[in-house]
Amino acid sequence: MTSNAPIGIFDSGLGGISVAKEIHTLMPSENLIFYGDSANAPYGVRSTEDVQALSMRIADDFIARGAKAIVIACNTATSAAAQLMRSTYDIPIIGMEPALKLACDLGGGKPQHVIVTATELTLREKKFAALMHRFSATHTIEKQPCPALVDIIENGQFEDAEVVNKTLRGYLDAYDLDSVNSIVLGCTHFTYYRDYFRALVPQHVRIVDGNEGTARHVRDVLAERDELASNNNEGTIILLNSSDDPRMMELSNYFWSL
Ligand code: DGL
Repeated sequence: MTSNAPIGIFDSGLGGISVAKEIHTLMPSENLIFYGDSANAPYGVRSTEDVQALSMRIADDFIARGAKAIVIACNTATSAAAQLMRSTYDIPIIGMEPALKLACDLGGGKPQHVIVTATELTLREKKFAALMHRFSATHTIEKQPCPALVDIIENGQFEDAEVVNKTLRGYLDAYDLDSVNSIVLGCTHFTYYRDYFRALVPQHVRIVDGNEGTARHVRDVLAERDELASNNNEGTIILLNSSDDPRMMELSNYFWSL
């Protein structure tokens, strides 16, 4: 049976819109609801319990709206709340983690030097420790929190190249980038900075993120349950935000349009 029930997608703020877009591109028949919790962003500097409570509130709302699946378009909320959500709700909960496996696999078996950019919460949680454990015997992995990259997006400064480049250099200057193979964008806000990273780092450095893999995973999970939307449905997107600042809706539409 197909299902035209919506897929609920959420993030601490605007970053997850990049994931919603990827899902829409892959599955244009799906009805999507995106919820950005900008009133409570950033999540990355909050306690795990706080992020769990905020995530559960959003998930309850998606359940009330009849969602057939929830996508946690936020590495931070996944680290803090995915397990709890899976044990609470009986619809699929699809989370995200920094694409470290992809970065290491792209090395074709050679030891890789990888910088993982993410939030402080993601990098300190056990989920990332377990992921790192799988790869750190063979590869050199550096953890780099970049909290200001979240604030720049939420504050509407994303197009201010001077601010962005200064911030990025502040995070990257300490590394010998000639020896780095990949930079992982392990926070959905960071995926918007791909071109800025590209312009700053040597050409051989790969810049990887998990958005496409997540969209494919959502499709596979729904296909397996026979719950994809019918092909003749024209998929819709509803962009919601918890902030009452009217600028947030403008920014939501801007990031959806990218
Ligand atoms: N976009 C989020 C992520 O993928 C977190 C940003 C924040 O700190 O709120 O981790």
